[in-house]
Order: sequence, then structure tokens, then C-alpha cells
Amino acid sequence: MHRSMTGETPCDRAALRGFFCFPTPRFELMPVTHHVTAAAGMLTDVVPAPLAWKATDLSVEDWSVALSPESIAEIGEMAKRFGTSPGPYLLRTASAQDAPHLAQCMVEVRDRLDTGCGFCVIDGLPMDQYPVPDLVACFWVIGQWLGRPVAQTWQGDMLYEVTDTGEAYRYGVRGSRTRVELFFHTDNAFGRSPPHYVGLFCRQPALEGGISRFCSLYTLHNRLLERYPELLARLYQPLLFDRQGEHAEGAAPTAEMPFFAYDGKRLQARVNVSLVRKGYDVAGRDIPKELDDALDAVQEVLSAADMWVEAPLERGQLQYLNNLDIGHYRSGFTDSASPQSRRHLYRTWHRDVGQQTYDG
Ligand SMILES: [Fe+2]
Repeated sequence: MHRSMTGETPCDRAALRGFFCFPTPRFELMPVTHHVTAAAGMLTDVVPAPLAWKATDLSVEDWSVALSPESIAEIGEMAKRFGTSPGPYLLRTASAQDAPHLAQCMVEVRDRLDTGCGFCVIDGLPMDQYPVPDLVACFWVIGQWLGRPVAQTWQGDMLYEVTDTGEAYRYGVRGSRTRVELFFHTDNAFGRSPPHYVGLFCRQPALEGGISRFCSLYTLHNRLLERYPELLARLYQPLLFDRQGEHAEGAAPTAEMPFFAYDGKRLQARVNVSLVRKGYDVAGRDIPKELDDALDAVQEVLSAADMWVEAPLERGQLQYLNNLDIGHYRSGFTDSASPQSRRHLYRTWHRDVGQQTYDG
């Protein structure tokens, strides 16, 4: 059984979550439903470790996963099958694969995401042995053992390519299509039903930079509660998020919802300071002073080096994170001059509730 960074087993952590009113797995009993506008009240308890972790609580073993020789062989068999029976990746399903070791590995990965440190890096797909499209199809299948894939754009893209398109980071251009630094955030923070898990497959890392960092959103909440309780209370009130152009034509370009919500059972964090500031810009409204200060407080807390863990993502590796409990960061990067060597990742979103469409 996987043992977490502080020595607890998943059962210990499940018990702790039970004490803190978090059933396991939480979302099956208390799904993150459509956007919350009326908080039941502010969480005023300090969330204990290990749910709220700091950098010093974790070791590399907590988040790194090595594939067994059997799992690697099963990936090879899948890639071969995909190569000899061409078809769209959307038609590839985990249930159609004979890959028991890989499936079991992903059960253990999901356990780490739900009851461990909340993120992991899997090492790695056999990049030099199979064509990339067949390995991308393997990534598509592997994520399904974690949860059902859902759309990542309003148009319904299920497999999203994270690469620098050369466009400036502006309204309607997602940060994932640029090379800029992306401060700690949760994916689709402004969405009606954000994904529960996010997966990445690294086809090619950047020449320099593009590093991932992860933090516990419970630790963020604890520190805001301790240092800035009045500002934290403001983050429980509705605020505007830029929707990044991901909406129906003519729909409102901003979404109004709180940064934090607590229903007495679980905390819901929608973390993206940049998209809140942009939301007020897009709406042509001045950001309220107290909210401005609260966002500064979030940035200050998340900037402390003991808040986060840095994990590389190298060619062939897979990264998965719990998008409800964990914030993630990407450093700015420099690409190779060669177009074939540009940073290029594939991303999936997973959520087992609602529809598979962007809004769920
Ligand atoms: Fe992200």
C-alpha cells in the first residue's frame, strides 16, 4: 500500500478526511456541481496535515511513479495495435484494452491523487520505439483509467495541445498556448464544472524553463485564514473571472463566482488571480480595493518557497494532478529555434459527473 509523505496510509488519510467531513472519494458523494454563488459560510478551521502539506512534507517518492516492465510491455502492445489498425483516438477506449498491469497502476495513481499528495509524474512512454500518434492514443487511453475525459474548449476539443502558438497572451488566447509564466492556478477555475483531474503527456520539453510546481490549496487557505482573515472572507464573495473566450457567441465574457466556497463538507477553490484581474478589465469595471488586496495576499502566500514542490516533466513522461485540491504553476520558457523541437504537451481533463461537454 502506498504510504504518504508523512507516513500515513491512504486509510489514515481517508479517516482524517472523514474527520474533516471529506468522504473518499469525495466528488462521488459531493460532486463539484455548477458554479457556487452562495457560500454556506467560510471555513474557519485550520485544515490539518497531511491534507494541507508543505514542501518539506514531501519527498520525490511521494509523487514519482515508475512503470513496471509489464506495464511498459502493455503500452507497447497497445501502440502496436493502434499502429496496425488506424482510427481516430476518440474511438480508443480503456475497456477495450487487455492491459491489467497498467490499469492497476492507474488505480494506484488515482489513489495518490485522491489521498496522497495530489499530483504525480509517471516515467515514461517508450518514445523512441513507436510513432508519436500511437503513443498519444496510449495517453488518451491511460487517462481513462483515472476518469472520464471531458471537453477542454467550448468547441469540444477532447485532446488539447499545449504549445506556444506565437500569439500574445491577450483576451481570447489561453495561457497554455503561449510561453508566458502561468502563476499558481486551477484549470478552468471560471468554469461551471472544472475538471477533477488534469493529465499531461510530454512529447517535447522546452529548451529552457516550462517547469511545473504544485501546491496544496488547503495550505493556501490555512495561511490566508491565519494572516488575512478579512481578505479571505472577501474571496468567499462573488467576483469576476475572464472566461477566456470559451463561451457561446454573444454570451457574457465574464463569469461571476467566488474564489472559495465551503458547504460545510468540502472546500471548493477556483484559483486564478490573473483571470480575476482580467475579468474586471474585460467588464470595464474597477477592481474593488478589498478584492485587489485579497488577490495580492493570495499571490504573496503562494510565492513562498515552502508552499510548493517543483517537478520536472521530461520527454515521454506523464503528469496527473487533482485539480480540486492542488494548484499548479508553469514557469515561462524558451523554445528551441527548430520548429520540430518546440515544447509540445498533450493534455486531457477528467471528470466523472455531468456531461462530457465543456460546461459539464
Ligand atoms: Fe493549468
